[in-house]
Order: sequence, then structure tokens, then C-alpha cells
Amino acid sequence: MQTLPSFVHHIPTQCLSELLQRMPKAELHMHIEGSLEPELIFAMAQRNKVALPYRSVQALRDAYVFDNLQSFLDIYHAGTLVLKTEQDFYDMACAYLARAQADNVLHAELFFDTQTHTGHGLSAEVVIKGLHRACTDAPDRFGMTASLILCFLRHLSEAEAFECLEQALPLRDSILGIGLASSEVGHPPEKFARVFARARALGFRLVAHAGEEGPPAYIWSALDVLKVERVDHGVQAIHDAALMQRLALDRIPLTVCPLSNLKLCVYPSLAQHSLHRMLEAGIVATVNSDDPAYFGGYLNENFSQTFAALPLSAVHAYQLARNSFEASFISAPERSAHVARLDALFESFA
Ligand code: ADE
Ligand code: ZN
Repeated sequence: MQTLPSFVHHIPTQCLSELLQRMPKAELHMHIEGSLEPELIFAMAQRNKVALPYRSVQALRDAYVFDNLQSFLDIYHAGTLVLKTEQDFYDMACAYLARAQADNVLHAELFFDTQTHTGHGLSAEVVIKGLHRACTDAPDRFGMTASLILCFLRHLSEAEAFECLEQALPLRDSILGIGLASSEVGHPPEKFARVFARARALGFRLVAHAGEEGPPAYIWSALDVLKVERVDHGVQAIHDAALMQRLALDRIPLTVCPLSNLKLCVYPSLAQHSLHRMLEAGIVATVNSDDPAYFGGYLNENFSQTFAALPLSAVHAYQLARNSFEASFISAPERSAHVARLDALFESFA
């Protein structure tokens, strides 16, 4: 376990909610298509002349009731049908970055899935160029940095993932990493062993969703077969003591998404969430919003609801923010600068 600066142990409890809001942090697990708010879906539907099967913004929002991952993915996919132009992708990303800035996010790594959009007849280039322009503008417009992680859709075939990778290669320099998302159960990491090996040879950073609904075995194979550097979700590791030990010893970060887990019925309540147990076990856990427009909150809402439900302290808050920088793919000097800002804030409260 890491030793933390001594001032984090001297924070008055009444400061916790203000600290959660104000502390600098990174967000490492959010799907940019999952940040499309109903209002933006309606605005884009109008400008792109797409008919929506909902009468109003409220009717669409009312449909956001899910029993599991698949029931969410169906409606998430329907929302993406309004995205047509490079400007749409730029506007969607900027709307998220503005929200992230308000939550004191200094750096975000955004997931996107080109296969969803190429499946609707768009080119990968339109998607990547629009999103990348938003990332390039992020320091000036939003006072933060952002980079892109292209996720393969695991319900599609290995051949389709290879095709997706090839389509992205002309814009290789716009993409930091490769991930794996969509319907987990029945689509184990092994299905993508060869395409991840190719992505690794090309120098991409690697992550994968594993252990959201799927078994701990999927987390083992994300690590040992896909050779990922971070595991997205990973909460099912709590059922496998040897895996918990491996994650802690090798300092493999987990990008945990509490409100997502609640809304997709992975846990019946936040009070039963494993985040506190994971931190106590020395796991490099982080808090993230996943699909904030669908799950009831952006990053700070995830922090505040989770801290209200679990026995988490200012020490845990510091650890989570620090983990977010440790687990990110930023450079060492950027990481040190962000941790220095985090330390300065906590010290001012001690
Ligand atoms: N795509 C968007 N959100 C996802 C999630 N929570 N799990 C898997 N794939 C996703
Ligand atoms: Zn996700």
C-alpha cells in the first residue's frame, strides 16, 4: 500500500463534500456517446432531420430505466442515430468537456466506438476527426486535457474488430488507446486476443471492460491474454481472492463506475457497492461516470452519492483522486503537476 501525505489524515469530516467537488481529478472511463443528453439528442435530430420514436425530451428521459447492461445498450445505440457530421461529434465531446471542467476534471480519457457509427453508414474519419478536434481544443476552451480510446464492440466479430482497427490507422496519431466494450457475457476477452496483440504492436495503450457483469475469469484473461494496463469496471473481482491479490500487487487500476453499476443492477444499492472493500484491499480503484447522460450523473455526482452511501473518508477521497492520475496515460511531468494541485488543496483543508 502507498503511504499518503500526513495532512490527508487531518481533514475535518464536515469538509468532505466540498473536497469531493473541488478536488482535481481525472476521468478514465466514460463513453462519449453516453454523454449525449436527451436535449442534445433532440437538437441533433432536428438539425439532421432524424425522426425520433419519443414525443419529448422528458419521454426519452423517462425511458432510461434498465434491468441490465443489454437493456441500456439498446437505448444507447438508438441515441447514437442522431450523430451524422463531424460537427456533431465535436459538439457532443465539447458538451461533455464543459461538464467535466465544472467537476474539476483536469484530464479525461474518452471512449468512443466507431463501429456503432460505421454501422450507420458514417466514415471512421468523420467520427475521429470531430472528437479529436474537441480534444485538441480542450486546453484552451475547458482548461483540461483529453485523449481518445477506441473501443471495439465485443458483440461483433474478431474480423470486424480488425477492420475497425485498419479504418482508424490513417488517424493513428489521434488515438491513444484501444479498449473493449458492449455486451460482456458470452463475449470473453479471448475472442479479441489477436486484434489486441496487433494493437499492442502498433503502440496503442490497452484497456478492456471486464468483470462488469462477466465473471472474474474475464478479468484474468483481460490481463493475461489481452495484456491490458487497466481494467474497466472489474468489480466482479471481489468474488476472487487470488485476483484481488494480483490486482493489488501489480497495481492494476480498476475504473469503477458506481452509478452505472447501480442503474444497471450490478448492485441493488450503492451501500452494497464493493468500492470501499477494494480500496481497503489496496486496489488502485478510480471513480468514473461511464455513460453520465443515462445513469443520473457526471463525475462529482458519482463521488457524492457513493460517499453518502459507503463508509468513505477524506483519506479515501484523496486516494481516489490520486489513483485517477496514477492510472491515467498522461506523462510523468503532467502527473506530478496534477498531484501537486491535489496536495495543495488537501493541505489547505487540513
Ligand atoms: N458501452 C457503453 N457503456 C458501456 C458499459 N457500461 N459496459 C459495456 N459497454 C458499454
Ligand atoms: Zn463503460
